[in-house]
Amino acid sequence: MPGHKDPHSYSNPHEVVIRDSTLEMEVNFFTRTIEGKVTHTIENLSGANRLVLDIRDLTIYRITLDDGEETAFAIGPHNKYLGNPLAIEITGQTRSVTIFFLSNPRSSAIQWLEPTQTAGKRHPFLFTQSQAILARTWIPCQDTPSVRFTFSAKVKVPPGLLALMSADNPTEKNKNGEYEFKMNQPIPSYLLALAVGDLEYQSLGEKTGVYAESPMLKKASSEFAEVQEMMRVAESIYGKYLWGRFDVLVLPPSFPFGGMENPRLTFATPTIIAGDQSLVHVVAHELAHSWSGNLVTNATWNDFWLNEGFTVYFERRIMEALNGKLYAEMLAELGYQDLKATLKEFGNTHEDTALKINLKGRNPDDGMTLIPYEKGYFFLLALEQAVGRKDWDQFLNDYFGEYAFRSLDTEEFLRYFESYFSEDLPLIKHRVPLNQWIYDPGLPKSAPPINSKRFRQVEKVIKQWKNGLDPQHLNISEWSTHEWLHFIRNLPSSLTPQEMTNLDEAFHFSKSKNSEILFAWLLHAANNQYQPAEPIMDKFLTSVGRRKYVLPIYKALSQTNEGFQKAKSIYRRARPNYHSITASSLDRLLGLNGG
Ligand code: BES
Ligand code: ZN
Repeated sequence: MPGHKDPHSYSNPHEVVIRDSTLEMEVNFFTRTIEGKVTHTIENLSGANRLVLDIRDLTIYRITLDDGEETAFAIGPHNKYLGNPLAIEITGQTRSVTIFFLSNPRSSAIQWLEPTQTAGKRHPFLFTQSQAILARTWIPCQDTPSVRFTFSAKVKVPPGLLALMSADNPTEKNKNGEYEFKMNQPIPSYLLALAVGDLEYQSLGEKTGVYAESPMLKKASSEFAEVQEMMRVAESIYGKYLWGRFDVLVLPPSFPFGGMENPRLTFATPTIIAGDQSLVHVVAHELAHSWSGNLVTNATWNDFWLNEGFTVYFERRIMEALNGKLYAEMLAELGYQDLKATLKEFGNTHEDTALKINLKGRNPDDGMTLIPYEKGYFFLLALEQAVGRKDWDQFLNDYFGEYAFRSLDTEEFLRYFESYFSEDLPLIKHRVPLNQWIYDPGLPKSAPPINSKRFRQVEKVIKQWKNGLDPQHLNISEWSTHEWLHFIRNLPSSLTPQEMTNLDEAFHFSKSKNSEILFAWLLHAANNQYQPAEPIMDKFLTSVGRRKYVLPIYKALSQTNEGFQKAKSIYRRARPNYHSITASSLDRLLGLNGG
């Protein structure tokens, strides 16, 4: 913790550090604000006379110390991404600081949804997304992943709604709308989360369950039926699950990500509910974060690959244990295709294609590309192959044990790895040049080859299709979602309207209930200006806010002048449904501001 200089926080945890936070909040859907009071219990490491917190778009009413005496504070200059420093006068003896605050309706973390934007259509909904540096837009805090604290909270919401947090949670609504939470394991601020809505709960096993609006609950619980088994498998590979419960909350479709690893309560997009459990690797991913990320945390966002690379690696190990090698290989090869595409887009020499990057002075969101995920994965796969799976697994068990409930940076990881394998290090480095992987752009030649046998079959079928074989006669029986994705992605990039129509008539991509398949198809439609897909594309873009889907489609549309106009006109209607994270990426792409 102290020792890491985080370029995305004004706070001074090397001098004074928050150990626990007690929250009291009232959620108001009419004013779209949260009024709150937070008491931070601090440890003053250096006799400092000020505590500096991060805030953005927060009104601070007053601040008191220990037993209630008011103290002076100053709010420093504003930065677009970082917000403002909040400097609070304390003494060497101060033990706690209480801040009375009000959030802004435009708080970037919070999305306020109208009843029409929910599944039930009758009640409003709210959810937060704090990663990377948005916790400060709803709670004044030391908003850096290098600081961890326990917390407890009391939250008041309108009667008829359930409140949930990244903590131990109620499973039922109560009449007065007052809920209490406790998180006894210390967490970094980016894992603070709150959701409020007309939610119901269904158990999936001893330690697992699902929350959703009632129209979604049945579908969600059968989709996630394997989650308890997933946890068993994960524990058998990398040790005990240390967070008590693992529940999944299914959010409305505007949720900007596939999933978010909020401890004890993973947030998930409804677009992973395909009806056949084919997209549950997203849940495996968020579960894997319970070790890499939530237990062992990147010290700064420059070290983000420590969170995501390890998590993708672990996710694929879980999927391999559940569904076999052939299945996991498909996921890995799709990841490799994504990595290649990202490297091509950036160019092989772009600084941001290194694992350790420098985001100082920039929005940390700029570093949240597929590089830390997929290049990180291939780096760890190369290490696994160099040291052998048995020793590698032992290493990871020891690593998670050694750094449990701590944050570290890339250099500390390297030191730990190098001393752990000191005897074999020259050999390992010969096979896997560690520094090149971590600090150089592009993909090293030592990257392990990836070869999904099932995909080679798919390519044969693509060839047959190219040679004019009637789609009805192609051998596609028993294909999984991933084989279909490989098929669609590897169709020629330029397709005539007639070819598009033939494909869709044969395979019904445009009617797919699988969001990944529909997305892959809509990308072709956007790239080829295929007009018959327009109504479906319109519906997709105006109802789904998952950034990974909508951004590439708008980008593809924007390649032509006409498409760019179309993209802007769809976006004007769709924007009110997007979370600020998706909207701000699209504002940049389409040059709009505020719709
Ligand atoms: N922690 C991330 C989501 C995130 C990253 C939020 C950066 C804010 C800033 C989450 O674990 C994640 O990686 N989600 C992926 C899932 C996938 C890789 C299986 C997603 O949302 O697509
Ligand atoms: Zn992740």
